[in-house]
Amino acid sequence: MQFDPKPPPYSTADPTSFAYPTARERWPIIITQAIDDAYRTVAACDDAEKQEEGKKIVAELVQLKYEVQHDRALTPLRDDGYPDVAGYNKELEQLGSITWLKAPWLFTECYLFRRMSTSFTLSTHWKSYDVFARQKIKTFRSSRPAVLELAARYKDLISQVRSSTNAPDPEADRLLFTEMCEVCLWGNATDLSLLTSLTYEDIQRLQGSEARRKAENNILVNDLPQVYAHLLAAKNDPAKGGKERRVDIVLDNAGFELYVDLILAGYLLSAGLATTVVLHPKSIPWFVSDVLPADFAALLNALANPRGFYEQATEEDVLQGRTPEKLSDKEVAELGFLFQEWSRFHAEGQLVLRPNRVWTGPGSYWRLPAEAKDVVEDLKTGELVVFKGDLNYRKLVGDVTWDPTTPFTEAIGPLGPGSGLNVLALRTCKADVVVGLKPGEDERLRQTEGGGDDSGARKWAWSGKWAVVSFSKGS
Ligand code: F6P
Ligand code: MG
Repeated sequence: MQFDPKPPPYSTADPTSFAYPTARERWPIIITQAIDDAYRTVAACDDAEKQEEGKKIVAELVQLKYEVQHDRALTPLRDDGYPDVAGYNKELEQLGSITWLKAPWLFTECYLFRRMSTSFTLSTHWKSYDVFARQKIKTFRSSRPAVLELAARYKDLISQVRSSTNAPDPEADRLLFTEMCEVCLWGNATDLSLLTSLTYEDIQRLQGSEARRKAENNILVNDLPQVYAHLLAAKNDPAKGGKERRVDIVLDNAGFELYVDLILAGYLLSAGLATTVVLHPKSIPWFVSDVLPADFAALLNALANPRGFYEQATEEDVLQGRTPEKLSDKEVAELGFLFQEWSRFHAEGQLVLRPNRVWTGPGSYWRLPAEAKDVVEDLKTGELVVFKGDLNYRKLVGDVTWDPTTPFTEAIGPLGPGSGLNVLALRTCKADVVVGLKPGEDERLRQTEGGGDDSGARKWAWSGKWAVVSFSKGS
């Protein structure tokens, strides 16, 4: 497309790309899960008209799954009243008659979720139904141990941050910033065991420890020192005294990842590294687990009433004869502290939620300056834009076959130096594309166990085990 990077995009037809098993195995599973969810809600529905409509939606999802599995052509999206339909259909037309299993990965995957959403938005009774909400909340509930551990640490940490303004310790402050960002980063991986402790003492103690070294070694590019210097310079800049210093976070997943995003946001505000944090969620159910505004509300509700959330047996608990463990009074108090902090920031306008359909468009963020000028202008007024997760990274670099040693600043094209945007990507690798690596690093990682060897596939980059933290200064 007109504004996209030059190298060819990853394709669902390429057997060496993660796009290949994604399209053939993972998409049918995702659609099946959506069908199961909708079916369950339809079956429990007591409004006959709504139930009929629900059955029609289920039938449409079944049809979609058939089309994917039988490699049918992608058809134009039906007009559901939202302006992004025209862009999707224009691009589809320009791509020619593409079929599901021989198509550019990024466009087709975005189209898949946008197409599912039309079935709901075109209905009367199901317009705002989130077919992935059950999965999101279930996953969040199952991350209970890590949630509780972080809640306990957060309280200590925030009091220490507040008291540290009296007796400054620049090295401890820097370590804490790094730690908070790394917790936020690993929240994007499925492996929660990488989380490390968060108090000042623990940070010191853990520095050099096996666990921390291991996690840090898995960060292939780590630009956090530059990011910290940048935010600190803004904080100490007399010209900015009393003015807003904003950090934007383009969110990725709900549940545990949103929880660690809020931990980072709360820390930045408490440490004075930002005066406002703007969170950018999606507007439609997206890539299964992405945050919708309702997920933010659900998370705060869970924190407001932790006993109701964690101690009440779910349908599944009942089926499996499980009784959820009770929370201690201390745990309830620690979760309550988070609720008070975050809801106060939210009520006072320091923590803002700003959905926009630009985040669920079909293509790369190379297009933003031309196609969403207002959004880019708005982001420019902040100090930093954090892009969370794999998909945001794919969109930043266009999901094309870059040489992995290409500098990040080059691979993000018009959002790079000179754009006025300070971009930070916090990404655990769950797709093929990667940039900013040292020469020879990709080759080395391919030789690690399960890394792809000489298969031609960059398998090491598919599992979320490795990460990249890349920064581009816009000035
Ligand atoms: O696992 C692959 C994948 O589904 C990609 O298609 C997509 O980029 C990514 O995962 C979603 O991950 P994240 O939630 O980190 O953006
Ligand atoms: Mg996601």
